[in-house]
Amino acid sequence: MPVEKIAEGVFSVGVVDWDRRVFDELVPIPEGTSYNSYLVKGSDKVALLDTVDPPKANELLSNLKEAGVEELDYIISHHAEQDHSGSIPELLKRYPEAKVVTNAKCKSFLQDLLLIPGEKFIVVGDGEELQLGGKTLQFLLTPWVHWPETMITYLKEDKILFTCDFFGSHVASSRLFVSNDSMEKASIYWGAKRYYAEIMMPFRTSIKKHIKLVESLEVDMIAPSHGLIYDDPSFIIDAYKEWTSDEVKNEVIIPYISAHGSVREMVGYVVSRLTEAGVTVKPFNLAVADVGEIAMAMVDAATLIVGSSTILAGPHPMVVYVAAFANALRPKTKFVSIIGSYGWGTRIVEQITEMIKAMRVEIIEPVVAKGYPKDEDFRKLDRLVDDVVSKHKEIGIL
Ligand code: FEO
Repeated sequence: MPVEKIAEGVFSVGVVDWDRRVFDELVPIPEGTSYNSYLVKGSDKVALLDTVDPPKANELLSNLKEAGVEELDYIISHHAEQDHSGSIPELLKRYPEAKVVTNAKCKSFLQDLLLIPGEKFIVVGDGEELQLGGKTLQFLLTPWVHWPETMITYLKEDKILFTCDFFGSHVASSRLFVSNDSMEKASIYWGAKRYYAEIMMPFRTSIKKHIKLVESLEVDMIAPSHGLIYDDPSFIIDAYKEWTSDEVKNEVIIPYISAHGSVREMVGYVVSRLTEAGVTVKPFNLAVADVGEIAMAMVDAATLIVGSSTILAGPHPMVVYVAAFANALRPKTKFVSIIGSYGWGTRIVEQITEMIKAMRVEIIEPVVAKGYPKDEDFRKLDRLVDDVVSKHKEIGIL
């Protein structure tokens, strides 16, 4: 990504990672990502806000050279995760005079993760300011977005909020700003929603608080450290308000796997019956599904129905994976049920229920068929569908 000015004395100097497809060796990022880093030049001092993933350090150094940075006074570290902090040691080699400015918790993480000596730091507290000369950086602590040490920086004179992971999206683009084109806005919305679902969703309660903090500031531009910059902040703030709200939608998602067709038959029946009843249904065959799309669906859905074949008396390993993922993401899902099939013995209901304990949901009575589903099993599925419909009516979404 070339160096680009985003405001007077403020430059984008980060890099795009066009090829990356998995983050944390866990979550799919089909559109690549970027590690945004920003340079703020005051009349007295120069600060760099966040660095980049270590394999991209040379690109950042080359951008700083292109931006004419001979001396660097401060490296602001919003978050200790290495995709933003990992190049700090390389930066300190090139700019040994620079101080790393961060909060106390982030300092301790950076010392542990990157072995940066304590004397290289300036520790700041919530609301504290740093003067660069005509540019004032104000640091605001926003813990649990998505680690405990996360913070954001408000550039007062230019009303730019640098939010690191908060409001970010894993998108590789040669463009810097979200355009007004409705198609592009839709694509950015989905990218940001995937990012929220995969990374931020477990911290919904903290994020709601921090949205209020952001709204209390006068902000013309939100500049995250992944994805594009928002010069219409209300676009992403409103999206976050929707995703973090307590409201659920009249939707059922059904991640399932079927070894020999019995579970597929049951899922197909439930999908048809729920659709007839006016419920939006999203089945995900785990043999081919993108787990990130399941996470996105979990942002809104009122109900989750897990479908599994029985493998050695327990759920299929793909279902174990999704159940663990759902349990960790803690979506606002209110109801869960299980459908499945077995040959000679099964404990899938007990085991899946145990795996999703942290979701704190109401369990709708599961349906498990011996072998291929028969009339009696379809009648039980009718009862399950009726239960889902009445639960959705009870909470006023159907
Ligand atoms: Fe983009 Fe939590 O790192």
